[in-house]
Amino acid sequence: MAFAKRTHTCGELRPEHIGMRVVLNGWVHAIRSFGSVIFFDVRDRYGITQAVVDETCPPPARDIAHRLRVEFVIAVEGIVRPRENPNPRRATGQIEIAVERLSIIAESEVPPFEILEHDEKPLPSEETRLRYRYLDLRRPTLQRNFIVRNMLYQLAHQYFFEHGFVEVETPILMKSTPEGARDFLVPSRLHKGKFYALPQSPQLYKQILMIAGFDRYMQIAKCFRDEDLRADRQPEFTQIDLEMSFITPDDIFTLIEGFTATVWRHVLGIELQVPFPRIPWHEALTRYGSDKPDLRYQLELTDLTTLAAQAELEIFRKTAALPDGTIAALCVPAGASFTRKQLDELTTLAKKHGAQGLAWIKWSDGTVSSPIGKYLGTTLTDQIRARLNAADGDLALIVADRWERCLTVLGALRSEVGRMFLNSNRSTFQFAWIVDFPLLEWDDQEQRYVARHHPFTSPVEEDIPLLDTDPLRVRAQAYDLVCNGHEIGGGSIRIHRPDLQERMLELLGFTRHEAHQRFGFLLDALRYGAPPHGGIALGFDRWVMLLTGTDNIRDVIAFPKTTSGLSLMDGAPSEVSPEQLAELGIAVHLPSDGKLVSGDTSSTC
Ligand code: AMO
Repeated sequence: MAFAKRTHTCGELRPEHIGMRVVLNGWVHAIRSFGSVIFFDVRDRYGITQAVVDETCPPPARDIAHRLRVEFVIAVEGIVRPRENPNPRRATGQIEIAVERLSIIAESEVPPFEILEHDEKPLPSEETRLRYRYLDLRRPTLQRNFIVRNMLYQLAHQYFFEHGFVEVETPILMKSTPEGARDFLVPSRLHKGKFYALPQSPQLYKQILMIAGFDRYMQIAKCFRDEDLRADRQPEFTQIDLEMSFITPDDIFTLIEGFTATVWRHVLGIELQVPFPRIPWHEALTRYGSDKPDLRYQLELTDLTTLAAQAELEIFRKTAALPDGTIAALCVPAGASFTRKQLDELTTLAKKHGAQGLAWIKWSDGTVSSPIGKYLGTTLTDQIRARLNAADGDLALIVADRWERCLTVLGALRSEVGRMFLNSNRSTFQFAWIVDFPLLEWDDQEQRYVARHHPFTSPVEEDIPLLDTDPLRVRAQAYDLVCNGHEIGGGSIRIHRPDLQERMLELLGFTRHEAHQRFGFLLDALRYGAPPHGGIALGFDRWVMLLTGTDNIRDVIAFPKTTSGLSLMDGAPSEVSPEQLAELGIAVHLPSDGKLVSGDTSSTC
């Protein structure tokens, strides 16, 4: 059906258009009816414009105005005139349209929730919003996130093109090379019993592109990881994936700092200070208890091992006797006002991160209170206070455990209480590079070494001999970019020697046969003249989160999954027909309770 086509968008009209005849197309945003006068707002992605039907309006349009309901799609024609009560919050707030013609292009059922201009009322539950995502995405606040997302795509293409990068698409159906997170698998119909995997990242392909001589590769790549979800994690997400030949980490830092500065300047009008600080991993853990510290607030951790070991407390003594046993504290300024309930919640959080418990000391109005006070005694408590530089009103949270766990638990507590120390100004961004990661860690469950980054990361040259004698001390040529407590990028210099790559896979517990079965194509390629190379992948969605100021990754992905991996709008994942299964040669065996068991997997590669 023909409709009157718009002459302007709903965000375009200004006082200079007064007197003009215009046509707008859009959705009815709101209706206010005062008998013979009806005001309604028309909305599209560019803005909202007020239209008025009054006594001067021809009767056919007036009749239609009475039938309007919110979210109807309409065409409205009329004359632009000044508004009696201007709305300073709207770009079009100075004018309105005196309606002369009106038509309904499409009707809408009563929407399950209101589309708000500024999210001025509490939003409906996220479940409802995801179920009706097409309505949720009509919210101007959400649409703005995608405008920012689009700016990031364009800036990335432009910046890396200008820096000589070639964009190459890599396959979505690839070989399963499980290491790191769990793969999503796709059964092959032509080769029954065989599976493709969806890429956790284009890691191996980009390395092979370097061996193929592309020198500088980039791709805005979709990645898929079947892992437990969090506020900043989705099972399918996007990376700005980069790889370069004949480079050092410094080249990558400079390139990425330049890109970050460009993005912040263009999107937010903020000039960032570069270069970003570089913090060795060990220092980040010791000072902040995290390899992605939020540096917007100070709150540093303090080691108390030697002092606390003197307490008459078994857990402290036992911990201090362990080779890497550590007792450390977080001093929370003004934390003595925390209630018992808040302290219980912090204890639950500490336990969730693997701590056996959480001790605390409060200094308030000249008195000390602590559940471990009697084991510490006054002298030791005073010494701890001096060590922490704690003032009256402060609180010390103390954890005793093995080094890494003790600090990561305190790091989790630091992030929790740190929110209180954030100023309300959302436009503070503290970037840093975390460097000098250990190459490996010991997995107690699997009883083997696992790569902290991924198995293709090069050890620091001078640490290579330690691979045979003390693998946990080997440093990786790996780096993460962090901002405000998020890891927003990670990369490394890669192993380009086939013998070293084989040695690495062997250390990770692969037999020679397994290594060749899984990564043979890489090992083969490395034998044909592989240039030294390295790269990085930037977490695209997390960048958009920072740029739009949201803490929820689902606010920046058009059709995201819930934390249990469901797509509520289309109902994925869903059962498939027996015919489809038969074609694939697949039979489904559900556990007897019908529930599938999920386990945690870490995120690498
Ligand atoms: P890595 O696994 O560190 O490295 O991933 C790079 C960046 O991707 C983002 N990211 C995620 N974002 C949303 N949801 C997820 N589930 C998720 N997982 C990771 C993070 C992270 O810093 N191939 C290597 C890169 C390389 O070595 O060049 C890789 O993928 O911001």
